[in-house]
Amino acid sequence: MSRHPQTGPLLLVNASHPLPISKTPDLVCADPRWPEVQLDRQAAGQLRACIRAVKGENAIVPVSGWRSLDQQQAIWDDTIRQEGEAFTRQYVALPGCSEHQTGLAIDLGLAAETIDFIRPNFPYSGVCGAFRKLAACYGFILRYPAGKESITGIAHEPWHFRYVGTPHARFMTDQCLVLEEYVELLRRKHSKQPLLVPAGSRIYRIRSCRELFREDLDAALAGRCQISSDNCGGYIVTDWR
Ligand code: DAL
Ligand code: ZN
Repeated sequence: MSRHPQTGPLLLVNASHPLPISKTPDLVCADPRWPEVQLDRQAAGQLRACIRAVKGENAIVPVSGWRSLDQQQAIWDDTIRQEGEAFTRQYVALPGCSEHQTGLAIDLGLAAETIDFIRPNFPYSGVCGAFRKLAACYGFILRYPAGKESITGIAHEPWHFRYVGTPHARFMTDQCLVLEEYVELLRRKHSKQPLLVPAGSRIYRIRSCRELFREDLDAALAGRCQISSDNCGGYIVTDWR
């Protein structure tokens, strides 16, 4: 295992990038009415704020948040039994390779008497549409959009949102980039040639925390700069000083 922590909101988790070994995320319930749906603390706060902003408290239901490896395995096995392998590979990530295991992903559904657990209904209109428009401002991306299936390896999932943090979510949404493409783009961004995003952040990638300048480390410790593993052998520095 790496000597540096493999955590942070920019972890890429997919079939070729399994969840790294790291401590269990700091989880809280996304909505006290569904205490079984847990999410990373910061992601949960931002989700609640976004839902409040669109007055969606009674219409938007958190369906599935953090999953343990055993839970993802059980979902995989049940779906294979009920729907077959082709369907399962489209809509369920391989156990060990689901970003639900990070606590940064949330499936949302429109409130209804019955909600499909694997493919909840989350329309593009009404209050759900309003949530979609604001999601990036609160740090969320639609993780599996239509047209990017060959890159993400997962079918279009209109219900699955992933917390990455605001400057990243806004840039990715504006540029129509999925996380795989964004992490690839950041491979070319160094501290002397960072990605500059409209809100004023400098974003760049380092291969090891040893590359960090002393002032970046001090800023990170003071909460003015964030360092996230990308789970691709590097770290993404977000400097919003
Ligand atoms: N539905 C997504 C791909 C998951 O199972 O993680
Ligand atoms: Zn999901």
